[in-house]
Amino acid sequence: MAHFTKATSVHDWVNQRLGIDTLRRVLATEYWIPKNINFLWAMGMVLAVTFALLFISGLFLLMYYQPNTHLAFDSVNDIIMRQVPYGWLFRDTHAVAASLVFLIIYIHMFTGIYYGSYKNGREMIWISGMLLYVTFSAEAFSGYMLPWGQLSYWAGTVITDLFSLGSLHTAGLVEWIRGGYTPGQAFLSRFFALHVVLLPLAVIGLIGLHFGALRIPHVNNQDGEEIDFEAEAKKYKSGDKKGSKVIAFSNDFMSKDLFIVSIYLIFFFYLVIFHNGFALDPINFVPADPMHTPASVEPEWYFLWSYDILRGFSKNPGLIAFAFAQGIFFFLPFLDRSPNATPASKRGIFFIWFWLLVIDMTALTIMGKLPPEGGYRTTGIVFAYIFIGLWIVFPFITKLEKKVTGR
Ligand code: HEM
Repeated sequence: MAHFTKATSVHDWVNQRLGIDTLRRVLATEYWIPKNINFLWAMGMVLAVTFALLFISGLFLLMYYQPNTHLAFDSVNDIIMRQVPYGWLFRDTHAVAASLVFLIIYIHMFTGIYYGSYKNGREMIWISGMLLYVTFSAEAFSGYMLPWGQLSYWAGTVITDLFSLGSLHTAGLVEWIRGGYTPGQAFLSRFFALHVVLLPLAVIGLIGLHFGALRIPHVNNQDGEEIDFEAEAKKYKSGDKKGSKVIAFSNDFMSKDLFIVSIYLIFFFYLVIFHNGFALDPINFVPADPMHTPASVEPEWYFLWSYDILRGFSKNPGLIAFAFAQGIFFFLPFLDRSPNATPASKRGIFFIWFWLLVIDMTALTIMGKLPPEGGYRTTGIVFAYIFIGLWIVFPFITKLEKKVTGR
């Protein structure tokens, strides 16, 4: 048994039992962050703050929301939006955060790709990040079901239809997921349970894993420099803070992060109060009507690129291409055959590959918003093929890369 002494303070009493000083050292005061990083490295913290905003505003919404197909629509659009004081503020905060979280996730993901921060020991950071992306996607989809408007009903129908697995028409899977032949009370109840309990718990667990995965390899830096963290930390601790290439997570790095988070929050609440219209689809302000299909049912902007890949092809190839698009990012660390964890600007052809991918996915997002007819359809298919092609050539072009040194 461990040796306990008479505590000299409350802090000492807790510390002897929980080792909070060690925890603080490992996670904060002796958690070393390179100095040569830019504002893009604050996006992780911006994401964590956006998740906190989603969680808190969601908790308030939950106090008035009714998960019942007869009551859900009015509980959101009348009770929360009109009757509850500041109910609109919580709903618009939730909606704006749900949209912005994807914008920041894409920026964070592509920062990781640009700087090669997904390999050389950082694979688990990447994989846990991708799991977060998938869980957030499921969270956004299940959230859209809850107001029980036209979009909830019809997007719910279209997306769950994907589980018929094309022409296979897998026996009963779609009905099993829906809890009936068409979306109804069982459907709403299960998506409610997923949205408010299971998926948020999964996100919290995954954020813990993501942060934990960062601790051993440390974060990358903008020069791709291989830093000897132990030696640099020694310099820092001996008082040579200027000469050391690292700073402590707390308080040095945190104060920089908090500065960027504050600017983000000004922008965030500006959107919530003055420009919240972009975050909710007008179709969902009409109550769900199983007898009337809306003229167009399209997903939120952040799903448009993969949606356009899905609809570019006929049923079976479309589903395969969609599964490919969703899944391929998971394998990025293993498909990249180059030894370099350096910025794309130093990696020759990878730089071109990176920007082609960004342009292609942006183009797919735009095409996903346009009707799938004539020239739009053809252009969408071309971009879908380019997306698949870029991933097929990826292992080969990275294999050709030569080792580049840091600074
Ligand atoms: C709610 C979701 C997420 C949160 C809260 C989060 C948080 C963080 C934080 C705090 C960092 C360290 C500082 C920084 O680089 O920003 C980080 C690093 C990283 N994250 Fe995330 N992240 C999330 C989602 C993702 C996703 C979707 C991916 C991509 C698949 C991803 C991939 C990475 C990578 C590769 C790094 C290492 C960066 C480096 O070493 O330079 N993260 N994340």
